[in-house]
Amino acid sequence: MEKSLVSAWILVLSSAMAMAPCHGYYSDSKPYVPAPQKVTRLHFFLHDTMSGKDPSAVTVARPNATTISVPFGEVIVANDPLTVGPDTTSEVIGNAQGLWVSTGRDVLTLMVYLDFGFTKGEFDGSSISMFSRNLITETKRELAVVGGRGKFRMAKGFAQLKTYFRNSTLRNSIVEYKVTVIHY
Ligand SMILES: *[C@@H]1O[C@H](CO)[C@@H](O)[C@H](O)[C@H]1NC(C)=O
Ligand SMILES: *[C@@H]1O[C@H](CO)[C@@H](O)[C@H](O)[C@H]1NC(C)=O
Repeated sequence: MEKSLVSAWILVLSSAMAMAPCHGYYSDSKPYVPAPQKVTRLHFFLHDTMSGKDPSAVTVARPNATTISVPFGEVIVANDPLTVGPDTTSEVIGNAQGLWVSTGRDVLTLMVYLDFGFTKGEFDGSSISMFSRNLITETKRELAVVGGRGKFRMAKGFAQLKTYFRNSTLRNSIVEYKVTVIHY
């Protein structure tokens, strides 16, 4: 048992050694052999709360421009909980950490730079990265999944979003995410 563990480690180490630099800082380039891919569908709700005593998203910078009706240039840092159902009391299965950047000059648009990390079940410790424009005034919209960590390594895919609740005055929202992820 222990012997096979040792030989497994030798295998792991020797494959890591195989990546050791041959020419200073890079290896030989070899043909890429793709491994079989899997598709996983995820369904959850994101709670973005900018008001109250314990906000999950905070403005860190914004221009001093009072004439623009949309908050062009605002930068928001988020750590938004993800839940199974739409209620705030629903089971938390992870969080989305990163930035929302207000980039729309005429129509409110929030560029998304977020890592959606999961803390429950099969994908505990894994995350997917989204990088996309988010046309938040449209009830149904789409974001690009551009990568992932852990079980979502090399992920690509898309997320379909639907606003479940929004209070523009308080700047609180609950958004339904249906995500299709292709990964190894
Ligand atoms: C912000 O804009 C207002 C109105 O133009 C001006 O009075 C104020 O000094 C500006 N504040 C800063 C920090 O630039
Ligand atoms: C948003 O919240 C404010 C303050 O609590 C409330 O007066 C308003 O009715 C709410 N609007 C919506 C659409 O829920």
